Order: sequence, then structure tokens, then C-alpha cells
Amino acid sequence: MNPSTNSGLKKVFIKTFGCAQNTADSERIKAYYWDKGFEEVDDWKKADEVVINTCVIRETAENRVYGLINNINLYDPKIKIVVTGCLVGVYDKKGKIKQLEKKIPEVNEFLPIEKVSFEWEPLRDKKKAALIPISSGCNNFCSYCIVPFSRGKEISRPMEEILKEVDRAIENGFKDVVLVGQNVNSYGADLSLSDSQMSDKTVVNMGKKRFRSMFHVLLEEVAKKNLEKVSFVSSNPWDFSDELIEVIAKYENIDRLLHLPFQSGDDRVLKNMNRSYTKQEYLDLVGKIKQKVKGVKFSTDIIIGFPGEDEAAFENTVDVCKKVGFDIAYINKYSPRKGTVSAKIYENDIPMSEKKRRWKVLNDLVNLK
Ligand code: 5AD
Ligand code: SF4
Repeated sequence: MNPSTNSGLKKVFIKTFGCAQNTADSERIKAYYWDKGFEEVDDWKKADEVVINTCVIRETAENRVYGLINNINLYDPKIKIVVTGCLVGVYDKKGKIKQLEKKIPEVNEFLPIEKVSFEWEPLRDKKKAALIPISSGCNNFCSYCIVPFSRGKEISRPMEEILKEVDRAIENGFKDVVLVGQNVNSYGADLSLSDSQMSDKTVVNMGKKRFRSMFHVLLEEVAKKNLEKVSFVSSNPWDFSDELIEVIAKYENIDRLLHLPFQSGDDRVLKNMNRSYTKQEYLDLVGKIKQKVKGVKFSTDIIIGFPGEDEAAFENTVDVCKKVGFDIAYINKYSPRKGTVSAKIYENDIPMSEKKRRWKVLNDLVNLK
């Protein structure tokens, strides 16, 4: 029992690992538990029930989940452990949740995140921007990435529903919003598929045939509202259309810090990553955005030590960093994830010591400059 409160309500502690999407999901989980008659506590040791919203993007993230489960169980096996998020997604989508039950028998319940639907109005962190999920899942299948397996195919929320959620956030006093999805700028490609009115349904961007995105339409609708800042994460180079650049340029309340992951600056590595652009195409896109959007800055995601990344390939990544002049880079050491193409077909051949060296080179160049 928590000695600091005596409300008689059951107590839940929610631990969130991973990205903005998980943070947004946890805000709905909070509402879901509120509805079930729980109050939130700030320490898992005081809780009757601990919900762990998991991330599996890299092995280190996954191991932190197992570590926490172990600690809770050692401290007090009576605390109910509920696991949700991407770890559950990976096993559930394969129909193999039984395997996960065997792997972590200390867990009392596996909660597929889809059960905590958008019917629950998120209980948001008032000190931060309102996170608004616009889509979930990803169809890109970058060869290293587990997201298409944990989150499934990309599904866009209806635009009306998103705009209403933005309105409610504004009514609740929020001035800043972040539109969240694994691949925000392909938003609506699945909706336009079902829209027979749309004559021109496909478009070729950077060598990839894509269904037309409606992200620029959504972004403009949101930017027109009474908001100080509208941000979005995460976008992909091949879905960064000219219409989108125009909308960003037109509305000053759209965040001038754009997050645009490039992962690698080497054409051969990019191809093996199943990312459809070249180094030059990425640089050209950045150049075009810089020209059209005054004061724009960039942040990015990079993977170092992808299989076969030799010194010359790494130098190409360094070169992109020098040319773009990113404000922030999230630098990730390659970690093979079970079930992904790169884990199946390539050897994880760059030693950890070399990954650490490359990480430091980029971190010094971009983040500590
Ligand atoms: N190993 C290392 N980093 C990865 N990312 C995704 N999958 C892996 C992996 N297997 C990184 C990418 C992505 C970010 C969210 O995580 O840089 O943009
Ligand atoms: Fe993963 Fe690529 Fe989709 Fe991003 S775009 S979530 S890296 S598959």
C-alpha cells in the first residue's frame, strides 16, 4: 500500500520506453486506467500494478524491459505486471504470444496496444506539447527495422478525428502540438487508396512508387489553428513533397527544426538498408528545403556500423553531416533485430569498438560542436 495516499484507489505506475508514439500511447493508457478506477503513482515500488510500455528498436531497449520486470518481481512478486507496446506487438502479430509468456513468465498480462483505442482521451503532460498520433505502423521495411513487425502496416487516422483532437488540446490550453507517426509524411496514403474521387493516386518519389500522401493537407489544417508551434515526427526523405515544403514555408508556426533521418550517407549502404534515395538526392532535398524555408534547421537519425559499412562508407556519412550542419543527430549503433531482413542476410561485421569510435566522431562533429 502506498503510505503517502489513502484514497483507497488502486495504484498504477506506467513506465514508458521508446519514441514519441509510445509516449502518446501511454497518455491514453493513463486514461484507460483512470477509467478502471486507478490513480497514478510516481514510483513502481508503491504500485499495485505496473504497466510497461515497451520498445524493441534496439537490443539495449529490449533488455531494459527484461531488467525492469526482473527487478519488480524480485522486490515484490505480488505487484501485477502488465506489458504492452512493441514487444507485445512483435509476438502478437505473429500469433506467438505463448512464446512471450514462456520467455517472461513473471508477467501477468500482455496488453496489445490496439486495445487502448483512441476512444480514451489522453491524459496529457501539461508542461509539454500535446502529442497527436496521426498514423501508426510503417510500410517501408527498411531492412534493419523491426517497426513494420511490431506496429504492423501503416494505418492513418481519419483527418476529422485528428483535427477534433487538436481542437480539444487547444481548448485544454495547449499552444504547441506534435503530430506523431512512424512515417508522418506518408499520412493518408492508405486513405487516398480508398478514395475513388482521386484520379491521380500514385506518385514516384526518389525512385519509389508511392500512393499520394495527404500530409500537407493535414498539416495546413492544423497550422491554420490558433497554435504557436506545430511540429511533426518522424518524416522520410522520399515522402517530402514540394507541396509539403510549400506549406511549411507558408505558416510561420510550423516548427523550423525539421527531423529528417538519413541513416547513412553511403549509396551502397542505403541500398542495403532498403532506403530508396542516394546521398546526393538527400542533399538536394535539404538544399531545396533550405532555399524555400527561411531559418530552417535539421535534426536526424543515423545508424553507424551497419553491415559492410567500411571506412569510405562511414566517411560519406561524415560528409553529409558536414554539408547539412545538423543541430542534433541521434546516432544509433547498428543492432540486428530478429525477423528483419538485415539480421537474416548480413553478418553484423563491424566490431563494437569501431561502432563506438564512429559514434564519437559523429557526436563530436554534430552534437558537441
Ligand atoms: N539498429 C540500430 N538503430 C536502429 N534504428 C532502427 N532500427 C535500428 C537497428 N536495428 C534507429 C534508426 C531509426 C531510429 C528510430 O532507430 O535510426 O530512425
Ligand atoms: Fe523503420 Fe524505415 Fe519505417 Fe522508419 S521508415 S519505422 S526506419 S521501416
